[in-house]
Amino acid sequence: MEAPIAELKNVSKNYQAENVTVAALQNIDFRLNPGDMVAFVGPSGSGKTTMLNLLGCLDKATSGEVSVCQVNVAGADHNQLAELRNREIGFIFQSYNLIPVLTAFENVEFPLILQGVKDPRERRERVEAALAEVGIRELQDRRPSYMSGGQQQRVAIARALVKKPVFVLADEPTANLDSKTGEEILKIMRKMNEEKGVVFVFSTHDRMVMKYARRLVGLRDGEIVSDGGNGV
Ligand SMILES: Nc1ncnc2c1ncn2[C@@H]1O[C@H](COP(=O)(O)OP(=O)(O)O)[C@@H](O)[C@H]1O
Ligand SMILES: [Mg+2]
Repeated sequence: MEAPIAELKNVSKNYQAENVTVAALQNIDFRLNPGDMVAFVGPSGSGKTTMLNLLGCLDKATSGEVSVCQVNVAGADHNQLAELRNREIGFIFQSYNLIPVLTAFENVEFPLILQGVKDPRERRERVEAALAEVGIRELQDRRPSYMSGGQQQRVAIARALVKKPVFVLADEPTANLDSKTGEEILKIMRKMNEEKGVVFVFSTHDRMVMKYARRLVGLRDGEIVSDGGNGV
């Protein structure tokens, strides 16, 4: 069996809120495999975002073992985790999180600057290719506030993919889009998964995302209750 991209072994995550402890995830065993296009599905509060935060090294588990790209997250320091996030993981947020004063081009270029890609010509080629791949090459000089939600989400996808990450996390990627635009976005991601093997991890309660994901992992009250293909 191929080595997993990320693995959670007997992981629990508690949050301390006021005087109560919230058990957000309990005894989770999960492997993210090469080629995966997986969606965590379940009701609000079931632990979907917490799962993505652990896989994205944005937070640490309370107990159990999390490894991401062969790095043991518990034993890694702040800088090592920042490096891992910069190099290996693409993030697509529900509200896009684009930088308003930057154009589409500059937003997508930003992670390459963070990564230390020094040659402006190389950056330009990679940014233009990423924008073309999501179908918005002609919008490269536009700022986010002059774009539709769907266009902004395409910029966010291009920004996540330009660094050629090992995997991409998308928390509720269609939450702010109408169903037609949401489906267009999902088609782009599915095509990238099928043609280039880009690994996607979603959280969602949108049926459309479930339709395009290739593996559905059901969460309920912080536990995995199902894990399988979705027949598509
Ligand atoms: N920062 C936090 N502090 C306290 N409780 C939290 C925090 N984040 C999430 N939780 C709680 O953890 C549980 C799982 O939350 P979350 O992972 O956001 O679920 P989902 O994304 O499925 O809606 C919920 O009960 C939620 O209220
Ligand atoms: Mg959530």
